[in-house]
Amino acid sequence: MDARVGTRQGLIALEASVAAPNYAPLPVVLERGEGSWLWDADGRRYLDFMSAYSAVSHGHAHPRLVQALIEQAQQVAVTSRAYHSTTLGPFLQALVDAADLEAPSRALPASGGCESVETAIKAVRRWGYRVKGIPADRAQIVVARGNFHGRSSTVVSFSTEPSYREDFGPFTPGFRHFDFGDIESLKRSIDECTCAVLIEPIQGEAGIVVPPDGFLATVRRLCNERGVLLIFDEIQSGLGRTGAMFAYMHEGVRPDGVIIGKALGGGLLPVSAFVARAEILDLMGPGSHGSTFGGSPLAARVGLEALRVLQARAVQPTAFFCAHDGLAVTVVSELLRIGCRIPEDVSVIGFGDFSSATQIAPQLTTVRMHGAEIGAAAVRLLDNRVHARIPPEVPIRVQIACRIVERSSCGPAMRQIPSNRAGAASRA
Ligand SMILES: Cc1ncc(COP(=O)(O)O)c(C=O)c1O
Repeated sequence: MDARVGTRQGLIALEASVAAPNYAPLPVVLERGEGSWLWDADGRRYLDFMSAYSAVSHGHAHPRLVQALIEQAQQVAVTSRAYHSTTLGPFLQALVDAADLEAPSRALPASGGCESVETAIKAVRRWGYRVKGIPADRAQIVVARGNFHGRSSTVVSFSTEPSYREDFGPFTPGFRHFDFGDIESLKRSIDECTCAVLIEPIQGEAGIVVPPDGFLATVRRLCNERGVLLIFDEIQSGLGRTGAMFAYMHEGVRPDGVIIGKALGGGLLPVSAFVARAEILDLMGPGSHGSTFGGSPLAARVGLEALRVLQARAVQPTAFFCAHDGLAVTVVSELLRIGCRIPEDVSVIGFGDFSSATQIAPQLTTVRMHGAEIGAAAVRLLDNRVHARIPPEVPIRVQIACRIVERSSCGPAMRQIPSNRAGAASRA
């Protein structure tokens, strides 16, 4: 082993020498996380704007979730679905209740989010053949341009991002595109072989694209009229991230199915699920689908606790960073006015071009901030001393969305927040 392995540079070099180069990580070697904070191997503290693309919505090492994980791991962790368990039923019941679809509904658990997207694709196709009567192998699923649903070969088959597809063909047929937010474009994409419309209610990877008001409700009506299922991928937008349990709840819309992931694992495990009306998921009989780890006793216990913590709003203050197009930040307006010393040992990590900002916050005053200000405001929000002054009913959440730009053009990816400059914009 390389003698320098214990050093930051040594660990980075070791990883680079053995890891496939499908990620280009920042030169930060993380060792520990707690709440919104991360520490590197040299003890430097960072405010985690990345939050693992929302998988860590509860904050790092949430005590209730860690406790549940430990307790269950000591009892039994993985059994396969060849048996029942004490944890799966309660977990899926909580999930079905949280999704609040038209009853009766069911849930099919898996691990990573993309696996549950695959579940949804299989289930809606089967519904298309067995219930709608689409001729064999002709089912179409309508998806949005700019979508992101994961990285499996079928899922990248309908991505519109060239880099996700390059040299990975041949691709899975059966997908048709429409322009997100454009109901006329959607109407044109649906025909008698369409079994489902599959969309993110708010596009994440595409840049936190919020559709026009009423769009989801109009899509729902259109799907009803045309006998097409409506499936929402809420892997990124769900589980409290928009202020409701699921984004579709803002418009009072009920999809036929919803795909849930990321924070469902409480920042500890990959836990995902497809929740859908029984008419769809009851078609998935034994042998049709499955996964060794999906719905394991451990995953179910942590998933249930993750839901409970969210429902009790006992979420640790967390900074969200989504590396996406456009820069958006949500902060509590009155907190922005609190001039608070910025800890000197704080850095902000994240990819992106911090040069432009838009603010999204229904309950908040509109502010436009430079990236450094955003970082400073976030630090103020999450600093414990400020925290103590925040009324308990005010959510403490910073959402930043930022376009991934070429590393060469995004300047220093790691930015030091200037100390003692509360509210003073540094254009660094
Ligand atoms: C909307 C959406 N769907 C699916 C996925 C894929 O989830 P996973 O990376 O856990 O497979 C993601 C991941 O970012 C996502 O944002």
